[in-house]
Amino acid sequence: MKFFVDTAEIDAIAELNDLGMVDGVTTNPSLILKSGRDILEVTKEICDLVDGPVSAEVVALGADEMIAEGRKLAEIAENIVVKLPLTWDGLKACKVLSSEGKMLNVTLCFSANQALLAAKAGATFISPFIGRLDDIHIDGMDLIEEIRTIYDNYGYETEILAASIRSVNHVKECALIGADVVTAPPDVIKKLAGHPLTNAGLDQFMKDWAKTGQKIL
Ligand code: E4P
Repeated sequence: MKFFVDTAEIDAIAELNDLGMVDGVTTNPSLILKSGRDILEVTKEICDLVDGPVSAEVVALGADEMIAEGRKLAEIAENIVVKLPLTWDGLKACKVLSSEGKMLNVTLCFSANQALLAAKAGATFISPFIGRLDDIHIDGMDLIEEIRTIYDNYGYETEILAASIRSVNHVKECALIGADVVTAPPDVIKKLAGHPLTNAGLDQFMKDWAKTGQKIL
């Protein structure tokens, strides 16, 4: 399973990237706001840092403007993925930009039918939002399962990029279902390493080791 980091914070990306935990990065207008950086500058820095795909989102609502913004964003670097909203105009822009060979991430997906349309429009990635469905008491994981089944039924190559990941259980469940990618905030990725029994076991080992009076170095 590929891990994308869902942030525009350079230091956080760099820390995880040094560990080999970053297969790509996703950003959105809210994450750009949070970073306090200029979108073109920070996205270029991320693209230089990371080998994998880096999603940068258009902010226009009409197809023609989305296409123009997408072309401009794609000029930043070869690993740019143009992120488009799952609207009718977004699908039109997806079709045009995919015919130009650009990588596309269709975002704000909340239904299997939307995901089907994105695949038909040539999306490289579809981003179903798990956490935001959970927020309204709909199991986001059911959506991942439905999309996996539909894409496998028809051999669509669009990758399922599970987004709006809020917990370590979201990551595990996506992996079990077979999502191609999860994009998660840095703190969720770091929490994957934690387990209370690991901490308790290490604590006991350290206490017993101190009693031996030995040293390795
Ligand atoms: C990533 O592509 C999405 O924009 C992001 O995962 C949304 O996450 P949120 O619902 O926690 O804001």
